[in-house]
Amino acid sequence: MQNVKIIDHPLVQHKISLMRDVNTGSKEFRELASETAMLMCYEATRDLPLKTVEIQTPVAMAKCKVVSGKKLAFVPVLRAGLAMTDGIIELLPAAKIGHVGIFRDPETANAVEYYCKLPTDIADRDVIITDIMLATGGTAVKTVDILKKAGVKNIKLMCIIASPEGIENVNKACPDVDIYCGSVDEKLNDHNYIVPGLGDAGDRIFGTK
Ligand code: URA
Repeated sequence: MQNVKIIDHPLVQHKISLMRDVNTGSKEFRELASETAMLMCYEATRDLPLKTVEIQTPVAMAKCKVVSGKKLAFVPVLRAGLAMTDGIIELLPAAKIGHVGIFRDPETANAVEYYCKLPTDIADRDVIITDIMLATGGTAVKTVDILKKAGVKNIKLMCIIASPEGIENVNKACPDVDIYCGSVDEKLNDHNYIVPGLGDAGDRIFGTK
């Protein structure tokens, strides 16, 4: 598999295990999703370019490194991706947030956009799409397509759990998009749920089931 980085940090793995547990309630699930996203974001931003600036410390002038290059935007995919946002903006408070809503047409199985609100300067930003589950990859591919049409050049995808099928489909359709995930699970079942996965992430976050 190309273009996929599994974030195997022990804290990420521990939090994902707690999220998988059927006995974990919505409040804890939301907190874990946010904390996991924050930790994963640390890895997904590892390649941000740095520049050197001079800073006066209380003792002396110092050559210091600060983040440079393009600004960032995060695009959570509704609904589940929303739960990753708080942790991320805690780490990167200057990043802008766009939102994309996509549903699967039950007749055609195509991914259909129903909502899209992006920062007006999105084309000038590097973008990290966030979604908790990368299942078939249809939603992710559609989101990448929307962002590319809006002029975005550099796109990453950050998901907490991925299926092998989803990774393959995103790699095939968008070979330029790097995927960051906490786990690649075994497979999709007949209902396109990830096995073992963690169930319906949206329902678990919002308590809708
Ligand atoms: N979406 C979910 O919330 N869970 C899955 O297992 C697959 C897609």
